[in-house]
Amino acid sequence: MTRYKLAPSVLSADFAHLADHVTAVAKHADLLHVDVMDGHFVPPITIGPVVVKALRRVTDLPLECHLMVTEPEEQTEQFAEAGADSVVWHLEAASDPRPVLRRARGLRLGAGLAINPGTSFEAVIPYLEEIDVLNVMTVNPGWAGQAFLHEVVPKIRAAREHADRTGLTYDISVDGGVNLETAGLCLEAGANILGAATAIFGDPDAAAAAERLRALMAPYADRTA
Ligand code: DX5
Ligand code: ZN
Repeated sequence: MTRYKLAPSVLSADFAHLADHVTAVAKHADLLHVDVMDGHFVPPITIGPVVVKALRRVTDLPLECHLMVTEPEEQTEQFAEAGADSVVWHLEAASDPRPVLRRARGLRLGAGLAINPGTSFEAVIPYLEEIDVLNVMTVNPGWAGQAFLHEVVPKIRAAREHADRTGLTYDISVDGGVNLETAGLCLEAGANILGAATAIFGDPDAAAAAERLRALMAPYADRTA
């Protein structure tokens, strides 16, 4: 059975009041998405292990660290020690994602691969048997608040069709520009995890915004129950 999950991305949270902002949405969230950017893989520098450690103290939600870094293998252990539950790194960052995968599994972390809008679904097929989640990026990584790239929708569909055909059980998450208008397209195409920063934490009532997004998933969850 496919499980539908909402993953608020703290990138758009109020970092001066991070615990309060996270606590506000917790009831409507299934995991927290933590965008780690190293200034190399993408231009900005964002969150590191110290923030993950601080989040770990204030929430029981699973912490998914999205590593937009050039050397995910080197970084993974720090995030495990900080309290991460899973790491998602980019197929574009590692010439062979398997060493990172082994490292993550050795640290008892969930493991996922993200693919940029310009990367084909075919490129990630060899690794799908070994990952828990495929993050289909619906913007180019680097910033919150970008517009959803509609041309990625067929790739979400291809990922779902492949899972259905092969019986593989990886989750399909979407990340970037997901809001009340675009979430339905993603769900219809086969995504089962919605990541969202601006649509949740950019709303003056983040809890209500999360609740509305999660409500969109209910009919899909019923369909597969
Ligand atoms: C982009 C990040 C996303 C980002 C999404 O590089 O990976 O997770 O937080 O932000 P929104 O939902 O505002 O597009
Ligand atoms: Zn992300």
